[in-house]
Amino acid sequence: MNNSEELLKLDKQHIWHPYSAMGSDMPVYPVVSAEGVRLKLADGRELIDGMSSWWCAIHGYNHPQMNQALTGQLQNMSHVMFGGLTHPPAVELAKKLVEITPEPMQSVFFSDSGSVSVEVAMKMAIQYWHARGDAKRQRFLTIRSGYHGDTFGAMSVCDPDTGMHSLFNEVLAKQIFVERPTCRFGDSCTQQDIAPFEQALNKHKTAIAAVIMEPIVQGAGGMRFYSADYLKQVRRLCDEHNVLLILDEIATGFGRTGKLFACEYADISPDIMCVGKALTGGYLTLAATLTTRTVSETISQGHPGVFMHGPTFMANPLACAAALSSIRLLLESNWQQNIQRIEQGLLSGFAACREYDNVQDVRVLGAIGVVEMKQAVDMKTITEKFVSAGVWLRPFGKLVYLMPPYIITNEDLSRLTQAVSEITHP
Ligand SMILES: Cc1ncc(COP(=O)(O)O)c(C=O)c1O
Repeated sequence: MNNSEELLKLDKQHIWHPYSAMGSDMPVYPVVSAEGVRLKLADGRELIDGMSSWWCAIHGYNHPQMNQALTGQLQNMSHVMFGGLTHPPAVELAKKLVEITPEPMQSVFFSDSGSVSVEVAMKMAIQYWHARGDAKRQRFLTIRSGYHGDTFGAMSVCDPDTGMHSLFNEVLAKQIFVERPTCRFGDSCTQQDIAPFEQALNKHKTAIAAVIMEPIVQGAGGMRFYSADYLKQVRRLCDEHNVLLILDEIATGFGRTGKLFACEYADISPDIMCVGKALTGGYLTLAATLTTRTVSETISQGHPGVFMHGPTFMANPLACAAALSSIRLLLESNWQQNIQRIEQGLLSGFAACREYDNVQDVRVLGAIGVVEMKQAVDMKTITEKFVSAGVWLRPFGKLVYLMPPYIITNEDLSRLTQAVSEITHP
């Protein structure tokens, strides 16, 4: 379909976009192709991508090496069921993930999206305790301002207010929430900072299957960066109280924060870890839940002797081939230096915003830059302004933020920060 008027009409008639109303007047922009960091619109305009398609497209779009990996895999098979069968892309990817994640992560469960990998992680924790004869442990402890996805289990551990799911409160499992860490990234964590977490853990420990949280960066729940020391304390307390720790690295994984995985800032490892998003370099949907030998063996040796999950598209070979290629590209690149370069570009590019009366806070970590406004932005107007300036951003609430593909040049990065600086100017 080449006629974009017709396309937009049909889109409006039949399609729901994320967190949107059918038939809404919020504009959607038809993209016809994407290359490097540029999205090409149907009307010929090109936008510099500041979002990496929601944390995913770390190598940009239409990358020759990624394309080659996919067309190569397509010659063999695009999909085959994973029950009773296996294939090289899945095995090689599992081996690679075990190699690059913290050492205790040894067993890999593939699924098709971040939310599902969180469901899988929560089920693993419950089954682990069940296998150990402690079936009462069915609840999860988490910190406020978190976001873990849109399915029911994942929704139950999202922030009940900012997590966008308050509508479903009655049906969601009642989890245990503690206030979000107030100690910021770079700060130490005092006894007072960790006390609410410790008290909640102490009070509910016999009912808790696991603590679940995003390490260091809380994404869609507020784009906040908290103290690595806090995370370290969380690990210590989980160990002391004999509770599992699930870390959701879906947004933070694969270098975005300046470490390959954000938990490395705290020098800790989880018992269960979720990865997704940038796993395939944004080419296809794939996620994985990794765990320790202790967890996987306990589940496998206990009743009913199997782990109760198995998605149809589990370990899709095309997605696994994309993931392998993306991880190779990343590791072969000078990614740490590159993230530092982007961090510097974001810091200097956002410097002016710190002085604005309408800006609450500016924060940067790795290749993530956030300008938090005092008031919520008008999404329609601000998006139109960004598009007119030739950049693609997707602000929400009070947050205007950038997380560009790692391949972005300094010139394009400064066009992004300049657009943010000019358009948020009071
Ligand atoms: C930290 C985190 N966990 C889970 C999810 C859910 O992933 P998906 O949208 O692939 O289901 C997201 C998505 O934004 C996320 O940022």
